Amino acid sequence: MSATVIVGGFWGDEGKGKIVAHVANSDKPSIIARGGVGPNAGHTVEINGQKFGVRMIPSGFVYKSAKLLIGAGVLVNPEVFLKEVEMLNVAERARVDYRCAIIEPIHCEIDKTQEHLKKIGTTGTGCGPANVDRVRRVAKQAKDVPELKDFLTDVPLEINEALDRNEFVLIEGSQGFALSLYYGTYPYVTSKDTTASAIASDVGVGPTRIEDVIVVFKCFPTRVGSGPFPTEMPVEEAERLGIVEYGTVTGRRRRVGYWDGKLARYSAMVNGATQVAITGIDKLDKECYGVTEWEKLTQKAKKFIEQVEAEVKVPVTLISTGPETKQIIDLRREKL
Ligand code: GTP
Ligand code: IMP
Ligand code: MG
Repeated sequence: MSATVIVGGFWGDEGKGKIVAHVANSDKPSIIARGGVGPNAGHTVEINGQKFGVRMIPSGFVYKSAKLLIGAGVLVNPEVFLKEVEMLNVAERARVDYRCAIIEPIHCEIDKTQEHLKKIGTTGTGCGPANVDRVRRVAKQAKDVPELKDFLTDVPLEINEALDRNEFVLIEGSQGFALSLYYGTYPYVTSKDTTASAIASDVGVGPTRIEDVIVVFKCFPTRVGSGPFPTEMPVEEAERLGIVEYGTVTGRRRRVGYWDGKLARYSAMVNGATQVAITGIDKLDKECYGVTEWEKLTQKAKKFIEQVEAEVKVPVTLISTGPETKQIIDLRREKL
């Protein structure tokens, strides 16, 4: 057994939370580890009619036998972390790497008030300013925060030892390819690289131990905040199609666009994708809502998936047909 990384292929909010929850339930990892920037992310998981929005705890929490680890690369806001631990009742199995840098109230204040950051349209969650302090080597670490003392661990050690025991480890990213500090639409990006290699590094796993990289794309890409969006559609068109979305963390309306095959291919290349997951196929064709078998998809949906495979040149193995964890077509057995 080895590790699988799941990352976003566009501007975040592709539905990674939902895909991670499905893979966790079906592949039963012993550890689910979270990389990425920090609590600027909002992953949504819907299971049995209940909806959860998580910003710090890995979205795979729905699979109850897995340890839930936050890698050293991730910024931790202790208040957000502790609130989620309580809400999800995961104190026994949620841990943070002792080296995680800490977001303090001053970081949130700067993030919300600095003109340049307002222009970029940051989430205001303090991530950028906290990463600045981390680079200046003045940020606090998790080991310096008494409220976190019962939750500290060495994440790379836990993961690599689990891999040595032949266990399956799931590593989840946050944000998306086009928000990467290196490869995204700079300066309208987040404060770190967000590609699969960075996510693996965030949790302390070397590239040789990663077997699969699943890149998640949504049928209609979205973007929150400012910056270029080549395939953006007019607001009225998104309303007409009934595909308007609002942010999990900030409640901001998400800009919506048409499928961008060129960006998808480039993103799959830099991420080293071995599989692609497509979410929101029910937004392309309402008749696909809740479908769980390939044969039951409409011609329009099948054609779209075939087009994606031709453009991206990576097999589409997971097709999400609605927000619920069970609303998915899983083709991994047939295609791999
Ligand atoms: P970040 O880490 O913030 O980038 O988020 P994310 O990739 O986990 O996505 P997020 O949960 O923020 O947004 C995705 C939205 O789409 C959520 O509201 C999901 O419930 C919803 N969703 C996921 N898959 C599907 C799908 O197949 N169909 C529909 N209609 N909604 C979906
Ligand atoms: P920051 O990460 O809060 O500094 O925000 C920088 C940019 O990334 C802004 O455009 C945000 O809207 C965007 N962003 C950050 N995290 C997410 C996310 O999880 N989903 C979608 N957009 C995000
Ligand atoms: Mg989100």
